[in-house]
This record gives sequence, C-alpha cells and structure tokens, in this order.
Amino acid sequence: MKPAKFQIALVTGSNKGIGEAIATGLAAEGYTVLITSRSLAKAVAVAQRLTQDGGKAYGFELDVTNEEAVDHFAQQILNQFGQVDILVNNAGIALDQWVQGQNLDLDYMRETFAVNVFAPLHLIQKFLPQMKKQAFGRIVNVSSELGSLETMEMAGTVAYRSSKTALNAVTKLLALEIEDGEDIQINAACPGWVKTALGGPEAPRSPKEGADTALWLATQPKNGPNGKLFRDRSLYPW
Ligand SMILES: NC(=O)c1ccc[n+]([C@@H]2O[C@H](COP(=O)([O-])OP(=O)(O)OC[C@H]3O[C@@H](n4cnc5c(N)ncnc54)[C@H](OP(=O)(O)O)[C@@H]3O)[C@@H](O)[C@H]2O)c1
Repeated sequence: MKPAKFQIALVTGSNKGIGEAIATGLAAEGYTVLITSRSLAKAVAVAQRLTQDGGKAYGFELDVTNEEAVDHFAQQILNQFGQVDILVNNAGIALDQWVQGQNLDLDYMRETFAVNVFAPLHLIQKFLPQMKKQAFGRIVNVSSELGSLETMEMAGTVAYRSSKTALNAVTKLLALEIEDGEDIQINAACPGWVKTALGGPEAPRSPKEGADTALWLATQPKNGPNGKLFRDRSLYPW
C-alpha cells in the first residue's frame, strides 16, 4: 500500500520496453507517472495510453545524458509536482554485445557509462534531496545480472557489463547515505532476459515479466530492503 501523500513516480526511458511496462504497472497501482523519453511525441503517446486506461500520466522529453536538460527537467518537475516519490532509473543502452574488451571502441565505453551510470547518479542527485526532506522515497536502478562480479564467467560485452557493475556499486554506496528514520530505499533490479529492442527477439520474457521486480521494489513498504540487488524478487549476488 502506498502512503496517500506519496504518489509521484518517474521512470526514465519509459517510451518502450521494460520502462513502459514499469510505468504501466505503476499507473495501474494509482501512481501519477511521469513518462520520459528522448522523443516528446513518444512520451506523450505512452502517457495518453495510460490515461485512456484510467491512470494518471504525463509525458516529458528527456535525454538522460544531457546534464543541462536533466537539471532543468528536475527543477521543472519539482516546481510542477512538488515531489518525486519513486524514481526508476531504467534508461539503458548496450552497444557492445559480445565484443571482446581487447577490441572495444572506447567511445562505446564512454557512451554506455554516460547512459547507464552517470545519468542514474545524476538523477538521484537531483531527486534524493527532496526525498530526504520528506523522509520518503523509493529509487530503483534497472541493472543486470550481467554486471554481477560473482557470476561473471564468460568474456565479452565489457562496456555494458562493467557499466552495470558500476551501477550496482552506485546503488549500494548511495543506499549507505540513507539515515535512520528516513523511509528511503535505493535498490537495483535485474529484469532477466527480456524481449525488447535491447534484449532481442530470442529473449524468453515479456516486458511485463521483466518489470515485475522493479515494480515490487518501487512499491515496498517501510523497512523494505535498501542497497541490494534483486532478480525475480530474490536477492542476487553482486
Ligand atoms: N532486455 C533485457 O534483456 C535486459 C536485461 C537486463 C537489463 N536490462 C535493462 O533494462 C533497462 C531497459 O531496457 P530494455 O530492454 O527495455 O531496452 P529498450 O527497449 O531498448 O529500452 C531502452 C530505453 O532507454 C532509453 N534510452 C536510451 N538512451 C537514452 C538516453 N540517452 N536518454 C533517455 N533515454 C534513453 C530508450 O529510448 P529510445 O527509444 O529513445 O532509444 C528506451 O526508452 C536497461 O537499463 C537495460 O540495461 C534489460
């Protein structure tokens, strides 16, 4: 059950794939969902669909790597809605699928870290202070088991996988900045292998199935987990 006054959820990269499924799930649970996409038209289209289905949603243009745009967007959102209670850092890219590190284009590495690591941290920096003021917040970073050091046995996909390892570290370290009495949780969710533009057509899971653990974490009651990685609603090793 969500506390009545905490009702604003923001999902990055929610124009398609797992992000759209997370946004759909949050709208169905009664949250006002802020849909963000690099394309305003796509964000608005998803928001309209959710509204037609009886939810409350608004679409915004946001390239999460544009630091000036993120600063401006965060100010605009806090002015307009007063708060963000749930932040789901979902936007992600995988440019180097199964490329060996020895052949990796460093620009892939930079671009991947910009979207998968720098942007989630930047968005947390923008919204955590207000969450701390209201002593409530849920932050979910959409990560991947491919970034888990413990289960890293095959070579390749160095940019994507190390970016998720870094995102996991950001999750754990930022969670340590939450103080006693603040009902704030920062966790990472692995969606499994999901049929999306990123996951490809062979993946066994639907976006809705992939969204489940992130949704579960986003809507945890007080005293839920903080600073952990989950897959299928179960703890997953870092
Ligand atoms: N699919 C899987 O099997 C799988 C497995 C593990 C983890 N994940 C993670 O799940 C998350 C969602 O992935 P997905 O599978 O749903 O992929 P997807 O369908 O390709 O969606 C990725 C989303 O991120 C957005 N995005 C990319 N770069 C962006 C930027 N600079 N600014 C704003 N938005 C940006 C995309 O926007 P555009 O439409 O504009 O490109 C899109 O909305 C990612 O973090 C991914 O790493 C996926």
